[in-house]
Amino acid sequence: MAAEMALVKPISKFNNVTPKFLIPRSFTKPRFTSVRMSATTSSSSSSSSKKGSKKNINETLLTPRFYTTDFDEMETLFNTEINKQLNQDEFVALLQEFKTDYNQTHFVRNKEFKEAADKMEGPLRQIFVEFLERSCTAEFSGFLLYKELGRRLKKTNPVVAEIFSLMSRDEARHAGFLNKGLSDFNLALDLGFLTKARKYTFFKPKFIFYATYLSEKIGYWRYITIYRHLKENPEYQCYPIFKYFENWCQDENRHGDFFSALMKAQPQFLNDWKAKLWSRFFCLSVYVTMYLNDCQRTAFYEGIGLNTKEFDMHVIIETNRTTARIFPAVLDVENPEFKRKLDRMVVINDKLQAVGQSDDIPLVKNLKRIPLVAALASEILAAYLMPPIESGSVDLADFEPGLVY
Ligand SMILES: [Fe+2]
Ligand SMILES: [Fe+2]
Repeated sequence: MAAEMALVKPISKFNNVTPKFLIPRSFTKPRFTSVRMSATTSSSSSSSSKKGSKKNINETLLTPRFYTTDFDEMETLFNTEINKQLNQDEFVALLQEFKTDYNQTHFVRNKEFKEAADKMEGPLRQIFVEFLERSCTAEFSGFLLYKELGRRLKKTNPVVAEIFSLMSRDEARHAGFLNKGLSDFNLALDLGFLTKARKYTFFKPKFIFYATYLSEKIGYWRYITIYRHLKENPEYQCYPIFKYFENWCQDENRHGDFFSALMKAQPQFLNDWKAKLWSRFFCLSVYVTMYLNDCQRTAFYEGIGLNTKEFDMHVIIETNRTTARIFPAVLDVENPEFKRKLDRMVVINDKLQAVGQSDDIPLVKNLKRIPLVAALASEILAAYLMPPIESGSVDLADFEPGLVY
C-alpha cells in the first residue's frame, strides 16, 4: 500500500480480533492518539537506535489508517471448494509474477541519504520528516493487512495466500526503507508499538477490495509522477529516496492489479447498482483525503518543485482513468466543477484547522465547527452526486505483467 485513504468511513462495526480497534466517531470530534516515535541520538551515525527522547505525533481523521477485515468471509470468498468458478490460472500467473521479485536488490541505500538529510534545514526538514513518517505508516499498514490475509487464507486458497504474503514482503521493504530514511534525521518509527497502539478501521472484504485497489493505484500514480518530475527537474532532487520511486511504484502497480483480479473473481462486487454507488464513494473518499492532506502540506510539494493542486489533480485524473477499467462507475473528475468543489473543501478544512488551533474553550470550538462541518459535508455530498461516469470490466488480459507508463 502506498497512499492514505478513507476520509469517510462507511462501516461502524467492531470485530473481536486483536488488537482492538476504535472507529473515529465524527468530523466534529476528531480523536487524538499519541503515536510513539523514537528520537535517536544526535550522532551522525545512521543507526536507528530506539533509545532516546520520545516525540508524539497527533492522529487525526486524515492520518494514514490501519485496516482489518472479516477474515472468515475472506476465507469463504476464496475457498476453491466452494467457488469452483474462481479463475485459479490467473492467480497462479500472478503468483509467478510476484515470485520473480523484481525489486529484490532495488532498495539498497548509499551515503547520499545521510548527506542530503544533513543539508536539509528549517521547515523543509520538518515537512520531510512528516512525509517519511506518513509514508512509512501507510506502507506498514499494507504490510499488516496483507500479512494477516496471507496467514488466514493459507488453508482455503494457498495461491492467493502466497500472493498476499509476497505483497506483505514488498510493503515491509517499503516501510523499512522509509524508516531507514527517518534514521537519516536521527528518528525512527516504533513499528511494533504502532501495531499495538493504532486504531484499526474495519472494512468488510468488499470494501477492502475497493479501498486497497484505489490506495495501490493512487500510490503508483503519486510515486511515478514525482519520479518523472524530478528526473526532468533534478535541481529539486533534495533527497535520494525519490530516485527509487520508478521501480518502487511498479510494486504498487502489481499490488493494484492483484486486487483487480480479486474483484474480477468476485463479480458480485462489481456488477450491480450498489457496487456503482460504493465505487463512487470510495473514489471520492480517497481523492478528497489526498487533496485535503496535501493542501495542508504545500511546503513539501513546493519544496520539490511541484504545484500541490496541479500534482494532485494529475494523480486523481490518472488514477480515475485506471480505476475506470475495473470499477463499474467512477467520478467525473475531469469536469472542472469537481476541482472547484475540492478547492472549496480545502477552504473549509483550513477554517476547521484554524478553529482547532485557536485558544477557545472546547465548547466554543465545537460550536464553531458545526457550520463548517455541515458545509464540508454538503460539498462532499454534492461532489458525490455529480453525474458519474459508467465504466468497468476490462478483459483479464489487461492484468498481464508489464510496465505501465
Ligand atoms: Fe508499498
Ligand atoms: Fe502496495
